[in-house]
Amino acid sequence: MTTNKNILCIGAGYVGGPTMAMIAAKCPDIRVTVVDIDAVRIAAWNSEPLPIYEPGLDDLVKATRGKNLFFSTDIARGIRENDIIFVSVNTPTKAFGAGAGMAADLQYWEKSARLILDHSDTPKIVIEKSTLPVRTAEAMERILASRNNGVTFDILSNPEFMAEGTAVQDLETPDRILIGSQETVRGRAARQILVDIYARWVPKEKILTTNVWSAELSKLVANALLAQRVSSINSISALCEKTEADVTEVARAVGMDGRIGPRFLNASVGFGGSCFKKDILHLVYLCRTYGLDDVADYWEQVVKINEWQQSRFVLKMLDALFNTLSGKRIALFGFAFKADTGDTRESPAIAVAKKLIEEHALVVISDPKALDNARMDLAGLSGDITFDEDPYGAARGCDAVAILTEWKLYRELDWARIYAAMNRPSFIFDGRNILDASALHALGFNVYPVGKPALTHF
Ligand code: NAD
Ligand code: UGA
Repeated sequence: MTTNKNILCIGAGYVGGPTMAMIAAKCPDIRVTVVDIDAVRIAAWNSEPLPIYEPGLDDLVKATRGKNLFFSTDIARGIRENDIIFVSVNTPTKAFGAGAGMAADLQYWEKSARLILDHSDTPKIVIEKSTLPVRTAEAMERILASRNNGVTFDILSNPEFMAEGTAVQDLETPDRILIGSQETVRGRAARQILVDIYARWVPKEKILTTNVWSAELSKLVANALLAQRVSSINSISALCEKTEADVTEVARAVGMDGRIGPRFLNASVGFGGSCFKKDILHLVYLCRTYGLDDVADYWEQVVKINEWQQSRFVLKMLDALFNTLSGKRIALFGFAFKADTGDTRESPAIAVAKKLIEEHALVVISDPKALDNARMDLAGLSGDITFDEDPYGAARGCDAVAILTEWKLYRELDWARIYAAMNRPSFIFDGRNILDASALHALGFNVYPVGKPALTHF
């Protein structure tokens, strides 16, 4: 197969933008074009600030944009001019019809396949970068084969494992690159082309090749296992609060077992992000489709514990604040689903804010990067919600502060100053266990970490 090495990526989101910027940076001889139907997003990629915040991303894009990295809305031209096409469109949970709330909504994915079919007059390698249910590549193959006009398509699965907030670092030094292909002569040749691209900067032993179905499934399983660890430690955090055990000590003790490992054992207000919940629900739906209800129930529990943990956090606030939050001012420190990103998709802060509003609390939201998204997430919610990027301003006159995102800046605040400006008694609910509870208690706060005894003055 002869292929021009130029690359197209359909979908300029949190994955498409950074992954293509990294390929462009590592392969200066390859022209990389990223296209999207969203003209506003493309305009933002072509300007400053970029549409997403990621440490290191600005520099990466500045170094490549206009040289061998291009952002455009001309999808048809992109398809015609490039023989290697990544598809990195969104694959949300279906909100309608059969499988609503569970199954993957593949409409964006299928539209991309049809666009590729409509505008291709040379052979293409089509690479699934989006996270997709197992055997989606088969559907893609059938659509692409439907015209029978002599143009050939090879489908690869190359799921992305980067995490937000560390995307640039994860893309530069990935734990592994996974490439699934058909075990045919053409499939292997297509796979080799992609292996050679990654091998420019990723050690060969970290580039793993499998069949397409294993690659598709591995992505869902990786996210399911990571989320399962968070739900496991969060479930134990509840038991710690009942028994005076300390979840950080427990996590440390169990994490030192090499078979368990220390990562992803930080108890929290719950996991968020655009993928954990949706990918587990897609896995659950897939299992049910194959009649594996016991397997489906097992994984669904990971999501249920997460929702319970978020509710539990608010109920703890209600209990501590004398069983009424009505008219009380509560500052939420952090709205992003994790630190170092402005992304608020499925952020536990959304659930917490909504529940506080249901309790008629007055909610003040602070975050260094996510306030625009927070405003959109809470638009239309009737209640007293205000926004203040300055944490000192946000906490003024509050009864309680809740830490919902582990931004470093919250560790470094002048908490004595915050205490002085709050109502009495003053409460802190540390949903990320990032603050020095004893020091805050000594200042006069009543402190409620996750999975540890509360330190109160009552
Ligand atoms: P996103 O919503 O940020 O971006 C998707 C983009 O695709 C949007 O800009 C949308 O306008 C565009 N799009 C949709 N249909 C299109 C079409 N027909 N033609 C052109 N553009 C189209 O999503 P994301 O966070 O980048 O995620 C993309 C995929 O990657 C998902 O499947 C997700 O599960 C997976 N993933 C995400 C992450 C992450 O950290 N966000 C990490 C690994 C994998
Ligand atoms: C996650 C995976 O880590 C990536 O490998 C994957 O590519 C990505 O999903 C995806 O498919 O979208 P991401 O959601 O960006 O990445 O961020 P994580 O670091 O995994 O955190 C997810 C959530 O879990 C955050 O809300 C975080 O605060 C929470 N978390 C994480 C905890 O509460 N405790 C922990 O110990 C770890």
